[in-house]
Amino acid sequence: MLVSLFICPICQSPLFPAADTWRCDGSLNPKNVSHPFDVARQGYVNLLPVNQKKSKSPGDSSNSILARQRFLANAHYQPLRDLVCAQINALLSAKHSTGQTDKSSVDWLDIGCGEGYYTGAIAQTKGINSLIAADISKPAVIEVAKASKAAKRLWLDIDKQDDNKEAIYPIVTSAAHLPLSANSLTGITSIFSPILPTAFADVLQEGGYLVIAKPDIGHLTSVREALFDEVREHNSDKFLTELAPLFEVLDTQRISTELTLPAADLADLLTMTPYAYRAQPEKRQALLAKAAAASFNTEAKFVVYVLKKRPL
Ligand SMILES: C[S@@+](CC[C@H](N)C(=O)[O-])C[C@H]1O[C@@H](n2cnc3c(N)ncnc32)[C@H](O)[C@@H]1O
Ligand SMILES: [Zn+2]
Repeated sequence: MLVSLFICPICQSPLFPAADTWRCDGSLNPKNVSHPFDVARQGYVNLLPVNQKKSKSPGDSSNSILARQRFLANAHYQPLRDLVCAQINALLSAKHSTGQTDKSSVDWLDIGCGEGYYTGAIAQTKGINSLIAADISKPAVIEVAKASKAAKRLWLDIDKQDDNKEAIYPIVTSAAHLPLSANSLTGITSIFSPILPTAFADVLQEGGYLVIAKPDIGHLTSVREALFDEVREHNSDKFLTELAPLFEVLDTQRISTELTLPAADLADLLTMTPYAYRAQPEKRQALLAKAAAASFNTEAKFVVYVLKKRPL
Protein backbone atom coordinates (compact mmCIF):
# COMPACT_ATOMS: atom_id res chain seq x y z
CA MET A 1 0.00 0.00 0.00
CA LEU A 2 1.44 3.39 -1.01
CA VAL A 3 1.76 6.09 1.65
CA SER A 4 -0.18 9.30 1.18
CA LEU A 5 -0.88 12.36 3.31
CA PHE A 6 -4.56 12.24 2.34
CA ILE A 7 -7.01 9.42 2.90
CA CYS A 8 -10.35 8.76 1.29
CA PRO A 9 -13.23 10.18 3.34
CA ILE A 10 -15.41 7.22 2.29
CA CYS A 11 -13.18 4.12 2.59
CA GLN A 12 -10.02 5.54 4.30
CA SER A 13 -7.70 4.14 1.61
CA PRO A 14 -4.73 6.31 0.58
CA LEU A 15 -5.92 9.20 -1.58
CA PHE A 16 -3.70 10.71 -4.25
CA PRO A 17 -3.87 14.32 -5.47
CA ALA A 18 -3.87 14.79 -9.25
CA ALA A 19 -4.67 17.78 -11.43
CA ASP A 20 -8.22 16.81 -12.49
CA THR A 21 -9.44 14.16 -10.06
CA TRP A 22 -8.08 12.85 -6.77
CA ARG A 23 -8.55 9.09 -6.45
CA CYS A 24 -8.18 6.68 -3.58
CA ASP A 25 -6.58 3.35 -4.41
CA GLY A 26 -9.53 1.42 -2.94
CA SER A 27 -7.18 -0.87 -1.00
CA LEU A 28 -9.27 -0.60 2.18
CA ASN A 29 -12.58 -0.72 0.37
CA PRO A 30 -14.12 -4.20 0.73
CA LYS A 31 -15.28 -3.88 -2.89
CA ASN A 32 -11.77 -2.84 -3.92
CA VAL A 33 -13.16 0.03 -5.95
CA SER A 34 -11.52 3.45 -5.95
CA HIS A 35 -13.43 6.68 -5.20
CA PRO A 36 -12.94 9.79 -7.37
CA PHE A 37 -13.03 13.41 -6.10
CA ASP A 38 -13.04 16.08 -8.77
CA VAL A 39 -10.86 19.16 -8.48
CA ALA A 40 -13.11 22.23 -8.70
CA ARG A 41 -12.42 24.96 -11.23
CA GLN A 42 -10.92 27.17 -8.47
CA GLY A 43 -8.53 24.39 -7.42
CA TYR A 44 -10.11 23.07 -4.22
CA VAL A 45 -11.38 19.54 -3.55
CA ASN A 46 -14.60 18.66 -1.78
CA LEU A 47 -13.82 15.76 0.59
CA LEU A 48 -17.04 16.07 2.62
CA PRO A 49 -19.28 13.07 1.90
CA VAL A 50 -22.97 13.90 1.79
CA ASN A 51 -23.67 11.79 4.89
CA GLN A 52 -21.30 14.02 6.93
CA LYS A 53 -23.16 17.18 5.91
CA LYS A 54 -25.46 18.08 8.77
CA SER A 55 -27.17 20.78 6.68
CA LYS A 56 -27.39 21.81 3.05
CA SER A 57 -24.68 24.47 3.40
CA PRO A 58 -22.68 23.67 6.54
CA GLY A 59 -20.28 26.16 8.15
CA ASP A 60 -20.08 29.90 7.71
CA SER A 61 -22.27 31.48 5.04
CA SER A 62 -20.92 33.33 2.06
CA ASN A 63 -22.19 36.58 3.59
CA SER A 64 -20.24 36.10 6.79
CA ILE A 65 -17.11 34.90 4.92
CA LEU A 66 -17.07 38.00 2.70
CA ALA A 67 -17.64 40.32 5.70
CA ARG A 68 -14.70 38.68 7.50
CA GLN A 69 -12.57 39.00 4.39
CA ARG A 70 -13.24 42.77 4.15
CA PHE A 71 -12.72 43.30 7.89
CA LEU A 72 -9.46 41.35 8.04
CA ALA A 73 -8.14 43.02 4.88
CA ASN A 74 -8.11 46.27 6.88
CA ALA A 75 -5.46 44.73 9.16
CA HIS A 76 -7.48 45.03 12.38
CA TYR A 77 -6.33 41.60 13.55
CA GLN A 78 -2.81 41.73 12.12
CA PRO A 79 -1.16 41.62 15.58
CA LEU A 80 -2.84 38.27 16.17
CA ARG A 81 -1.78 36.97 12.78
CA ASP A 82 1.82 38.03 13.50
CA LEU A 83 1.75 36.32 16.89
CA VAL A 84 0.39 33.04 15.48
CA CYS A 85 3.06 33.03 12.75
CA ALA A 86 5.82 33.89 15.25
CA GLN A 87 4.77 30.94 17.43
CA ILE A 88 4.77 28.54 14.46
CA ASN A 89 8.13 29.90 13.30
CA ALA A 90 9.65 29.34 16.72
CA LEU A 91 8.36 25.75 16.87
CA LEU A 92 9.59 24.87 13.39
CA SER A 93 12.98 26.59 13.71
CA ALA A 94 13.64 24.65 16.90
CA LYS A 95 12.68 21.41 15.13
CA HIS A 96 14.82 22.15 12.07
CA SER A 97 17.84 23.37 14.01
CA THR A 98 17.97 20.25 16.16
CA GLY A 99 17.77 18.17 12.97
CA GLN A 100 14.53 16.51 14.11
CA THR A 101 13.00 17.00 10.70
CA ASP A 102 13.57 18.44 7.25
CA LYS A 103 11.21 20.75 5.44
CA SER A 104 9.94 18.09 3.03
CA SER A 105 8.29 16.25 5.89
CA VAL A 106 6.53 19.22 7.51
CA ASP A 107 2.80 19.17 6.76
CA TRP A 108 0.47 21.53 8.62
CA LEU A 109 -3.32 21.76 8.85
CA ASP A 110 -5.25 25.01 9.34
CA ILE A 111 -8.65 23.74 10.45
CA GLY A 112 -11.67 26.02 10.14
CA CYS A 113 -9.46 28.26 8.00
CA GLY A 114 -12.35 30.50 6.90
CA GLU A 115 -11.43 32.69 3.97
CA GLY A 116 -7.74 32.11 4.64
CA TYR A 117 -6.41 35.33 6.18
CA TYR A 118 -4.25 33.42 8.66
CA THR A 119 -3.61 30.51 6.25
CA GLY A 120 -1.93 32.78 3.71
CA ALA A 121 0.47 34.09 6.34
CA ILE A 122 1.17 30.64 7.81
CA ALA A 123 2.11 29.45 4.31
CA GLN A 124 4.94 31.98 4.35
CA THR A 125 6.40 30.44 7.49
CA LYS A 126 9.71 28.96 6.44
CA GLY A 127 9.84 25.23 6.80
CA ILE A 128 6.35 24.08 5.87
CA ASN A 129 6.04 21.73 2.91
CA SER A 130 2.26 21.33 2.54
CA LEU A 131 -0.38 23.45 4.23
CA ILE A 132 -3.87 21.97 4.24
CA ALA A 133 -6.49 24.73 4.39
CA ALA A 134 -9.65 23.00 5.58
CA ASP A 135 -13.14 24.23 6.31
CA ILE A 136 -16.63 22.75 6.25
CA SER A 137 -17.89 25.87 4.43
CA LYS A 138 -17.59 25.65 0.66
CA PRO A 139 -17.72 29.45 0.14
CA ALA A 140 -14.80 29.78 2.59
CA VAL A 141 -12.68 27.20 0.79
CA ILE A 142 -13.40 28.82 -2.59
CA GLU A 143 -11.94 32.08 -1.21
CA VAL A 144 -8.85 30.27 0.11
CA ALA A 145 -8.33 28.64 -3.28
CA LYS A 146 -8.61 31.99 -5.08
CA ALA A 147 -6.20 33.71 -2.68
CA SER A 148 -3.71 30.82 -2.84
CA LYS A 149 -3.75 30.91 -6.62
CA ALA A 150 -3.15 34.68 -6.62
CA ALA A 151 -0.23 34.17 -4.21
CA LYS A 152 1.13 31.37 -6.48
CA ARG A 153 0.87 28.88 -3.63
CA LEU A 154 -2.00 26.72 -4.86
CA TRP A 155 -0.92 23.04 -4.84
CA LEU A 156 -1.81 22.69 -8.53
CA ASP A 157 0.62 25.40 -9.57
CA ILE A 158 3.56 24.50 -7.34
CA ASP A 159 6.66 23.20 -9.01
CA LYS A 160 7.69 20.39 -6.67
CA GLN A 161 11.32 20.98 -7.69
CA ASP A 162 11.12 24.45 -6.14
CA ASP A 163 11.95 23.65 -2.57
CA ASN A 164 11.13 27.14 -1.34
CA LYS A 165 7.45 27.07 -2.22
CA GLU A 166 4.90 25.92 0.30
CA ALA A 167 1.86 24.34 -1.36
CA ILE A 168 -1.63 25.16 -0.05
CA TYR A 169 -4.29 22.43 -0.46
CA PRO A 170 -7.79 23.92 0.01
CA ILE A 171 -10.25 21.20 0.98
CA VAL A 172 -13.84 21.05 2.18
CA THR A 173 -14.03 18.69 5.16
CA SER A 174 -15.45 18.33 8.62
CA ALA A 175 -12.98 18.67 11.50
CA ALA A 176 -14.55 15.56 12.99
CA HIS A 177 -13.62 13.32 10.02
CA LEU A 178 -10.29 14.58 8.74
CA PRO A 179 -9.29 12.91 5.46
CA LEU A 180 -5.66 12.72 6.58
CA SER A 181 -3.38 9.80 7.46
CA ALA A 182 -2.86 8.95 11.11
CA ASN A 183 0.29 10.42 12.71
CA SER A 184 1.10 12.43 9.60
CA LEU A 185 1.05 16.12 10.59
CA THR A 186 3.67 18.29 12.27
CA GLY A 187 1.06 20.78 13.43
CA ILE A 188 -2.49 22.09 13.42
CA THR A 189 -3.83 25.62 13.85
CA SER A 190 -7.40 26.22 15.01
CA ILE A 191 -8.09 29.95 14.96
CA PHE A 192 -11.53 30.72 16.45
CA SER A 193 -12.48 27.32 15.06
CA PRO A 194 -13.59 23.91 16.31
CA ILE A 195 -11.31 21.95 18.65
CA LEU A 196 -11.67 18.16 18.51
CA PRO A 197 -9.05 16.60 20.78
CA THR A 198 -9.22 13.00 19.54
CA ALA A 199 -9.56 13.81 15.84
CA PHE A 200 -6.57 16.19 16.07
CA ALA A 201 -4.41 13.79 18.11
CA ASP A 202 -5.09 11.01 15.58
CA VAL A 203 -3.62 12.91 12.63
CA LEU A 204 -0.71 14.54 14.48
CA GLN A 205 2.69 12.90 14.77
CA GLU A 206 3.88 12.17 18.27
CA GLY A 207 5.14 15.50 19.63
CA GLY A 208 3.06 17.32 16.99
CA TYR A 209 1.85 20.84 17.77
CA LEU A 210 -1.59 22.36 18.18
CA VAL A 211 -1.80 26.17 18.05
CA ILE A 212 -5.14 27.57 19.20
CA ALA A 213 -6.35 31.19 19.06
CA LYS A 214 -9.42 32.26 21.04
CA PRO A 215 -11.05 35.50 22.12
CA ASP A 216 -9.82 36.46 25.59
CA ILE A 217 -11.73 37.96 28.52
CA GLY A 218 -12.65 41.53 27.61
CA HIS A 219 -12.65 40.92 23.83
CA LEU A 220 -14.78 43.61 22.11
CA THR A 221 -16.42 44.49 25.42
CA SER A 222 -17.72 47.89 24.30
CA VAL A 223 -19.37 46.28 21.25
CA ARG A 224 -21.06 43.65 23.39
CA GLU A 225 -22.16 46.21 25.97
CA ALA A 226 -23.84 48.17 23.20
CA LEU A 227 -25.61 45.07 21.86
CA PHE A 228 -26.70 43.13 24.94
CA ASP A 229 -28.29 43.92 28.30
CA GLU A 230 -26.08 41.34 29.94
CA VAL A 231 -22.52 40.73 28.71
CA ARG A 232 -21.29 37.16 29.03
CA GLU A 233 -17.52 36.71 29.20
CA HIS A 234 -15.39 34.60 26.84
CA ASN A 235 -13.58 32.92 29.68
CA SER A 236 -14.37 29.32 28.97
CA ASP A 237 -11.20 27.28 28.96
CA LYS A 238 -13.13 24.04 29.31
CA PHE A 239 -11.49 22.91 26.09
CA LEU A 240 -8.09 22.83 27.88
CA THR A 241 -9.44 20.25 30.32
CA GLU A 242 -10.74 18.20 27.41
CA LEU A 243 -7.36 18.44 25.65
CA ALA A 244 -5.30 17.65 28.76
CA PRO A 245 -5.20 13.82 28.46
CA LEU A 246 -3.83 14.07 24.91
CA PHE A 247 -1.93 17.38 24.87
CA GLU A 248 0.36 19.34 27.19
CA VAL A 249 0.35 23.15 27.13
CA LEU A 250 3.78 24.53 26.16
CA ASP A 251 2.97 28.24 26.08
CA THR A 252 0.14 30.77 26.52
CA GLN A 253 0.37 34.31 25.13
CA ARG A 254 -2.16 37.12 25.46
CA ILE A 255 -2.39 40.03 23.07
CA SER A 256 -4.66 43.03 22.80
CA THR A 257 -5.13 45.73 20.22
CA GLU A 258 -7.11 48.99 20.16
CA LEU A 259 -9.55 49.22 17.26
CA THR A 260 -11.03 52.41 15.79
CA LEU A 261 -13.78 51.19 13.52
CA PRO A 262 -15.57 53.18 10.83
CA ALA A 263 -19.24 52.15 10.44
CA ALA A 264 -18.56 49.84 7.48
CA ASP A 265 -15.90 47.90 9.40
CA LEU A 266 -18.12 47.67 12.48
CA ALA A 267 -20.97 46.34 10.31
CA ASP A 268 -18.62 43.69 8.90
CA LEU A 269 -17.44 42.78 12.39
CA LEU A 270 -21.04 42.26 13.49
CA THR A 271 -21.77 40.11 10.44
CA MET A 272 -18.73 37.88 10.94
CA THR A 273 -19.43 37.13 14.62
CA PRO A 274 -22.31 35.32 16.33
CA TYR A 275 -23.36 38.72 17.78
CA ALA A 276 -25.02 39.45 14.46
CA TYR A 277 -27.97 37.16 14.97
CA ARG A 278 -28.06 37.17 18.78
CA ALA A 279 -28.43 40.95 19.19
CA GLN A 280 -31.75 42.78 19.01
CA PRO A 281 -32.02 44.50 15.61
CA GLU A 282 -32.79 47.91 17.28
CA LYS A 283 -29.60 47.76 19.36
CA ARG A 284 -27.59 46.79 16.32
CA GLN A 285 -29.02 49.72 14.34
CA ALA A 286 -28.34 52.14 17.20
CA LEU A 287 -24.73 50.96 17.43
CA LEU A 288 -24.18 51.34 13.69
CA ALA A 289 -25.75 54.82 13.76
CA LYS A 290 -23.31 55.79 16.52
CA ALA A 291 -20.38 54.53 14.43
CA ALA A 292 -21.65 56.43 11.38
CA ALA A 293 -21.42 59.68 13.37
CA ALA A 294 -17.90 58.98 14.68
CA SER A 295 -15.74 55.85 14.48
CA PHE A 296 -16.37 53.32 17.23
CA ASN A 297 -13.56 52.42 19.63
CA THR A 298 -13.13 49.00 21.11
CA GLU A 299 -10.40 46.60 22.17
CA ALA A 300 -9.75 43.16 20.69
CA LYS A 301 -8.22 40.67 23.11
CA PHE A 302 -6.90 37.27 22.15
CA VAL A 303 -5.17 34.33 23.72
CA VAL A 304 -2.91 31.96 21.79
CA TYR A 305 -2.09 28.54 23.22
CA VAL A 306 0.68 26.25 21.98
CA LEU A 307 0.18 22.60 22.87
CA LYS A 308 2.11 19.42 22.12
CA LYS A 309 0.74 15.93 21.59
CA ARG A 310 1.71 13.65 24.44
CA PRO A 311 3.37 10.30 23.79
CA LEU A 312 0.72 7.59 23.58
C1 LIG B 1 -15.02 31.90 13.43
S1 LIG B 1 -14.62 31.19 11.88
C2 LIG B 1 -12.84 31.37 11.87
C3 LIG B 1 -12.24 31.41 10.49
C4 LIG B 1 -10.74 31.71 10.42
N1 LIG B 1 -9.94 30.75 11.13
C5 LIG B 1 -10.50 33.11 10.93
O1 LIG B 1 -10.16 33.25 12.11
O2 LIG B 1 -10.62 34.06 10.16
C6 LIG B 1 -14.88 29.46 12.15
C7 LIG B 1 -14.72 28.62 10.89
O3 LIG B 1 -14.85 27.24 11.24
C8 LIG B 1 -15.63 26.60 10.24
N2 LIG B 1 -16.22 25.38 10.85
C9 LIG B 1 -17.26 25.32 11.72
N3 LIG B 1 -17.50 24.02 12.05
C10 LIG B 1 -16.59 23.27 11.38
C11 LIG B 1 -16.32 21.87 11.32
N4 LIG B 1 -17.02 21.00 12.03
N5 LIG B 1 -15.31 21.44 10.54
C12 LIG B 1 -14.56 22.33 9.82
N6 LIG B 1 -14.77 23.66 9.85
C13 LIG B 1 -15.76 24.13 10.62
C14 LIG B 1 -16.62 27.65 9.80
O4 LIG B 1 -17.16 27.38 8.52
C15 LIG B 1 -15.79 28.93 9.84
O5 LIG B 1 -15.17 29.20 8.60
ZN1 LIG C 1 -12.19 5.36 -1.15
